[in-house]
Amino acid sequence: MKEKIKNLKIEFDNLVQNTNEKIDDLKVAFLGKKGKITELLQGLKNVPNEEKREAGISINNFKEYVENKIDELEKIYKQKELEKEINSAEKIDITVPSNNKLGSLHPITIVQKEVEEIFKSMGFMVEDGNEIETEFNNFDAVNVPRNHPARDMQDTFWLDNGEVLKTQTSAGQNRILRKYGAPCRVIFPGRCFRNESVDASHENTFFQLEGMMVGKDINVANLIYFMKTMLSKVLKKDVDVRLRPGFFPFTEPSFELDVTCPFCGGKGCPTCKQGGWIELCPCGMIHPEVLRMGGVDTTKYQGFAFGLGLTRLAMMKYNIKEIRMLNSGNIPFLSQTKTR
Ligand code: DAH
Repeated sequence: MKEKIKNLKIEFDNLVQNTNEKIDDLKVAFLGKKGKITELLQGLKNVPNEEKREAGISINNFKEYVENKIDELEKIYKQKELEKEINSAEKIDITVPSNNKLGSLHPITIVQKEVEEIFKSMGFMVEDGNEIETEFNNFDAVNVPRNHPARDMQDTFWLDNGEVLKTQTSAGQNRILRKYGAPCRVIFPGRCFRNESVDASHENTFFQLEGMMVGKDINVANLIYFMKTMLSKVLKKDVDVRLRPGFFPFTEPSFELDVTCPFCGGKGCPTCKQGGWIELCPCGMIHPEVLRMGGVDTTKYQGFAFGLGLTRLAMMKYNIKEIRMLNSGNIPFLSQTKTR
């Protein structure tokens, strides 16, 4: 048996030297069901009992040797193939003109930039927010302590370290109040996440744009003025806004801001469900507790805040009925805004 294995090893080594990439043949010849190693194993039954154990070990060692060698050959072969491909076929000339297939900005990005420009022209700063937030910033600092029922409506994705994917851009309020203090005018757009069942008008990932204006004597009339100005510019129409009572733990009083339907001018159409108004932007006067937590002296300052639904605004502006298209990566759909 020893002799047999020795001879087979010599044969195998010779073949390895001259495989010429016929690795599969080699594999079948040695490791296949009817291969030489199976033959050796079958031959074990004719080996005298006292030599069986040693013979078995020798065969297995040889088998392992063959398997390793074949693995190695396969790796070398794949590497060679890859090199061939890189060297021959695909050469990309980065100096060739683009054939006019330029990308386009995402509809939400376009709307975000427009809103940013409008607020900048009115003296607001633009801040970046985090997508991962502390539980404190996302909830406690905006008056939503643990066990507050408002947490239920904003179930989100929790990380192992206790932080969350932020559910609202309001999560940036505390950090921004601490950074700038009063008075300040700041907007901070951002991507938000919620544990939502996705359908035509609900997404687990969406964009908001938060704004805050804090100063002496800031009041609801200021809020109405800024929102009306901004919306008329974005929608490129003179729109009206109205406030209805709302509830948010971080504003007092809280409002739902509606805008006259830009499609029918307020007469009533399917988009506004014949009502003439579209609900667009929750807002209110910042709750004194939120200001205090942000280090603002509430005997001197007050302010308004709003949480504009950027995804919603983009859908309205471009008359998009299906929210899922926005995260779809569908280029023909997303690039339609290019020419608008
Ligand atoms: N953060 C709220 C939400 O996502 C929206 C909101 C409401 C933001 C009122 C505000 C506000 O700044 O004043 O549901």
